[in-house]
Amino acid sequence: MVDQDIVYRQLRPSDIGVLERIHCDLFPIRYESEFFHNAVSGRDIVSWGAVDCSRTDGRSDELVGFVTARTILANDSEIGDMLRYDPTRTDQTLVYILTLGVVESYRNRGIAAALTREVIKYASNLAHCQAVYLHVISYNNPAIQFYKKLCFKFVRRLSGFYYIQGQHYDSLLFVYYVNGGRSPCSPLEIVATVAAYVKSFFKLMVTRLWKSEEKVSRWSKCKESSRLLTAQNKRNITSDSDGCQCV
Ligand SMILES: CC(C)(COP(=O)(O)OP(=O)(O)OC[C@H]1O[C@@H](n2cnc3c(N)ncnc32)[C@H](O)[C@@H]1OP(=O)(O)O)[C@@H](O)C(=O)NCCC(=O)NCCS
Repeated sequence: MVDQDIVYRQLRPSDIGVLERIHCDLFPIRYESEFFHNAVSGRDIVSWGAVDCSRTDGRSDELVGFVTARTILANDSEIGDMLRYDPTRTDQTLVYILTLGVVESYRNRGIAAALTREVIKYASNLAHCQAVYLHVISYNNPAIQFYKKLCFKFVRRLSGFYYIQGQHYDSLLFVYYVNGGRSPCSPLEIVATVAAYVKSFFKLMVTRLWKSEEKVSRWSKCKESSRLLTAQNKRNITSDSDGCQCV
């Protein structure tokens, strides 16, 4: 259901204070001020924000949610092996989600889903973009459920990816393929390919067995009738016997 009160727009320089505060509230990692400057000025980072236009407290243009992302070359990314693409092509890209968040009082209203769809739409419109991807810290179950719900594919667990306050945490890598991008070969695809190969092999064997049985029975019929034929005809039958044209 579309929430009429929530408006989505690109981030602006005036958002910087709120953006920084929400990041501070939601994430265990501290981001450098250069990151916020780049996010609100669109330098190297694309971003969208959500605001509640129904607010009457003068904060109808204040961010209640945001997403920030960056376009990177597929060749430079860590998920090159997760893509079915030509590595000699240098123009293939990916969109990497840096941060996504919604303030607590605005959760479960579809805001993060709408923001993520903006990123997917943006990536889909980039001619050579293959996928949108991101990392989630392994204990962040709401985010994991969220990305699964949006049909992101869990592709890899990275051990000790995060180092926060003296402790290592794993991260889960999620990918959403766009523009026909896809993984080179999932384990399921390998199993399906092997199963199809085994099936066609057995089918071939059964057909051959059936044909050779048919050949034997026809050959014995040929042998019976060949007694009536001349020696010359007998040679012809023998040489043509593959097609069993003797009968
Ligand atoms: C994860 C987060 C962004 C979700 O924001 P949100 O606006 O509440 O999410 P949405 O309302 O768009 O949820 C869409 C779907 O995701 C799933 N989902 C969202 N939050 C969930 C939760 N806490 N538990 C389980 N599923 C959840 C639901 O299936 C939901 O669909 P539904 O409403 O039809 O059930 C939000 O909880 C948040 O900001 N968390 C803190 C920051 C963070 O963890 N960011 C992600 C780091 S990569």
